[in-house]
Amino acid sequence: MVPVYLRLKNFMSYGAKASTLDFKQFHTACLSGDNGRGKSAILDAVTWALWGKARKVTSQSSAAQGLLRIGASEMSIEFVFDQQAERYRVIRLYNGDKNKQHLELHMRRRKDQRYVPLTGQGLRETQQEITRRVGLEYDTFINSAMLLQGRSDEFASKTPGERKEILARILNLGKYEALRAMAQERVRDAQNYRRHVEDTLARLAAEPIPRQNRGSQDELGKYRAYETYSGGEAFRINFALRIALSQLLATRRDTQIRMLVIDEGFGMQDPIGIQHLVQAIGMMKSYFDKVLVITHLGELKEAFPVHIEIRKHAVTGSQLKLVHA
Ligand SMILES: Nc1ncnc2c1ncn2[C@@H]1O[C@H](COP(=O)(O)OP(=O)(O)OP(=O)(O)O)[C@@H](O)[C@H]1O
Ligand SMILES: [Mg+2]
Repeated sequence: MVPVYLRLKNFMSYGAKASTLDFKQFHTACLSGDNGRGKSAILDAVTWALWGKARKVTSQSSAAQGLLRIGASEMSIEFVFDQQAERYRVIRLYNGDKNKQHLELHMRRRKDQRYVPLTGQGLRETQQEITRRVGLEYDTFINSAMLLQGRSDEFASKTPGERKEILARILNLGKYEALRAMAQERVRDAQNYRRHVEDTLARLAAEPIPRQNRGSQDELGKYRAYETYSGGEAFRINFALRIALSQLLATRRDTQIRMLVIDEGFGMQDPIGIQHLVQAIGMMKSYFDKVLVITHLGELKEAFPVHIEIRKHAVTGSQLKLVHA
């Protein structure tokens, strides 16, 4: 999945006049702005559009109320993305007065470039179709391609069993179940492959774990438990983990998620740490079609060719401005 554009209306701090983020204008960009300007809201908008879930809102029921801009009665997100050489458009609306959601999915037709609806009978059916087309569930997405603010340790802090499950979903092992139904021959291959992957994952997750895998290596070459690292150090470990997981997603043969998002975390880093992280992002760029780094640190934006500045006006809400260096 590669984002193309995002249009928000009355979503969190964004106002009634729609703000649009055009992803076509950049490959790698930094989203900047002071605290509370609406940076993380951009990510919430993407996940809410695709799955009806966001950082503080993980159930689809009335929780959308929390995302609706205070004082407004209806919010909407339009999110366009490319997936497997097709272009899709998702429109999700929420009416606060009626506490009702409306969801549409469209695919662009090649012959005349017009969008044709793939919207199902009801919300649930359309949601299933979006999840199927994107090829990922919300949880897998925020454990890989999106490092969400305050949840950067989401992957590292999971139990070995849960980590194995996430890896299995990233590797899309479930796909091989479907192959079994299709042909015995292919099933045998798939099962062999699955066994191989599961063995590898089981070796990672269960005992006996080689001593050096019980923690991460510090600058003295000593292995220590993850919990003993400082906030800034832990972020670096999580950063490395996420880059590796996102790389897996980006190179998967079927549904590729060719985007990487890092929301905050740089705030805890010293200047050398920031320099290393920026270098690492530069080195990994070719794996992704979109890289978005979010920060409130003014100096960090200079390290990126494009930055998107967010300002907030008391009446009209958050506004986006794309600046080329
Ligand atoms: N329903 C809502 N209506 C209006 N404003 C909201 C609503 N929900 C959240 N906000 C506000 O939207 C603003 C943007 O939030 P967001 O999380 O995007 O900030 P941010 O730019 O990422 O800030 P930080 O640098 O602190 O992480 C915040 O001021 C938040 O309080
Ligand atoms: Mg934020």
